[in-house]
Amino acid sequence: MHPSGKILIIDSGRKSRDLVSAFLTYQGYEIVHHENNALIFDTIRNQRVEIVIAELSHLHSIASDFLEQAKTINPLLVLIGYGSQDEKLPHPANSESFFFLPQPLNLDELESLVMRASESQAIRLFDTADGADRHPHILCSSIIGKSAPMQSLFAMIEKIAESTATVLIQGESGTGKELAARAIHQLSDRNARNFVPVNCAAIPDDLLESELFGHVKGSFTGAYANRAGRFELADKGTLFLDEIGDMKPNLQVKILRVLQSKEFEPVGSSKAQKVDARIIAATNKDLEELVVSKDFREDLYYRLSVIPITIPPLRERREDISLLIHNFLTRFNSDRKHTVKGFSRDALDMLCNYNWPGNVRELENLVERMVILKDAGFITPDDLPEKYLTGKVQVAVPALPASDELPEGGICLNSAVDAFENNLIQQALTRTKGNKKEAASLLNLKRTTLIEKLKKKNLVFSEE
Ligand SMILES: Nc1ncnc2c1ncn2[C@@H]1O[C@H](COP(=O)(O)OP(=O)(O)OP(=O)(O)O)[C@@H](O)[C@H]1O
Ligand SMILES: [Mg+2]
Repeated sequence: MHPSGKILIIDSGRKSRDLVSAFLTYQGYEIVHHENNALIFDTIRNQRVEIVIAELSHLHSIASDFLEQAKTINPLLVLIGYGSQDEKLPHPANSESFFFLPQPLNLDELESLVMRASESQAIRLFDTADGADRHPHILCSSIIGKSAPMQSLFAMIEKIAESTATVLIQGESGTGKELAARAIHQLSDRNARNFVPVNCAAIPDDLLESELFGHVKGSFTGAYANRAGRFELADKGTLFLDEIGDMKPNLQVKILRVLQSKEFEPVGSSKAQKVDARIIAATNKDLEELVVSKDFREDLYYRLSVIPITIPPLRERREDISLLIHNFLTRFNSDRKHTVKGFSRDALDMLCNYNWPGNVRELENLVERMVILKDAGFITPDDLPEKYLTGKVQVAVPALPASDELPEGGICLNSAVDAFENNLIQQALTRTKGNKKEAASLLNLKRTTLIEKLKKKNLVFSEE
């Protein structure tokens, strides 16, 4: 679920380093080691390290200008320290390059922070890279997605932006249809002209025609002057016909005519007006079904869907969820000057397993609500509204090093004990190929006790 950036953990000679290293390796990150402190910056450069984890108190022993030097190479720093962020972080650490984690170390919080840092690094690399080398997780600084369907969508959008063919975007509510339409316009050579959206479902039927085509003075009560319609406003630009599935049949004929002849008549006029607008239509209805039920004209459907695009629902591209969360979190934190650090791992797992009927819009609204309600710290399952807590979640079980020494900086006992227990449970289940009765017997537990534990911990063991 996270990008594969390399992580360097600076050796402070403490046991906690081994713990952090083992934990992150288990989570799938690639950990880079360094020989000695004098070579740290060479290692970061040569091995293309993207994230550095260091103990705040240890930085000065490496280099007095460590933070300044680190900035020039551009890795992100996750700093583990004591006390509160404001008190302890030296300038320029209060910048976007730094993520701060207080002691005692909580592994869930560490993972959440590292995940946020690596998502943020992915976006930063995209922002700073030039043309050919850009990072593909964001398009037009607005559409975010790293899943295979979103990556194909990006490629498709870039390709069709070059043409003027009519595009039909379909997808459930909140999947980003309007964002995609705007991106096509932005990437096209029409981008210096207007992008004109019309929501066909929001404008009353009797007003929609004049809204689209304009009217001449006196053509109906209230038409006190000539007025340009949206087609005219979109001349040489792009007209976005949103919720086209809601358009009444009499208007469907008129739209068909503009598509065929590239001209229209304003209401009350018999003089045809030429227009050169690229048309992008969108709907969350199944237009083919509407064609079958005769609620949508077949000829218009074919005219509109010269290039059909379907944006998949969020539940079919779950890899995008954590990247979207990170991005929304950064945006809402900065809008509201809050410092919510991230979602705890179990909260994030729940969100990744939720069905998202309202798609990205629902996710965006949830993150905004969470940032408003919680102005700092981590969001845990206790903070989430009830409906997001349903469903079992797949929890990665951390492997801990076999050491019973208390790290110098201390440790969060509960999460360490929990991780230790989860680890043994997982080993038992792996060895017995998922047979809970045999696993319980290896752990000297009753089968029902093991099942109860799995339930309580929200652990799902995938039997391969
Ligand atoms: N891939 C994405 N990356 C970032 N933000 C997104 C993405 N997809 C959707 N959003 C955000 O989600 C919200 C809904 O997106 P948009 O309005 O484009 O969806 P829609 O498909 O047109 O929805 P509806 O059918 O309800 O009109 C917007 O605030 C948009 O910025
Ligand atoms: Mg929309």
